[in-house]
Amino acid sequence: MEQFEKDGHKIIFGDAIEALKKIPNGTIDLIFIDPPYNIGKNFSGLKDKWVSDNDYLNWCYTWIDLCIDKLKSNGSMYIMTATQFMPFFDIYSEKAFHFI
Ligand SMILES: C[S@@+](CC[C@H](N)C(=O)[O-])C[C@H]1O[C@@H](n2cnc3c(N)ncnc32)[C@H](O)[C@@H]1O
Repeated sequence: MEQFEKDGHKIIFGDAIEALKKIPNGTIDLIFIDPPYNIGKNFSGLKDKWVSDNDYLNWCYTWIDLCIDKLKSNGSMYIMTATQFMPFFDIYSEKAFHFI
């Protein structure tokens, strides 16, 4: 995992779940996440398709939980996703978020 820092800004280049674990809890104002959508797209040899929708959702729930931990209590999160997974993210995340 590589890290690049300049003028107080940092980019962590690596697996999202491992990178999120490095960030202290309750410190982030805004998270914008554009994850793979589980639709079979090819990202430089990395195929965006899990064995099952449940496997994909469980992976997503792992980073959603981590994101919730990292956000400040008044933090915000924008999640990009494919329309078929939007209701799952919505229902799973409503424990932590007020949805707009
Ligand atoms: C929908 S695309 C987002 C593209 C991005 N918004 C951009 O403009 O470059 C999903 C991206 O997530 C990356 N990705 C897939 N698995 C990942 C993981 N475990 N950790 C971090 N990034 C991952 C893919 O390589 C791909 O670039």
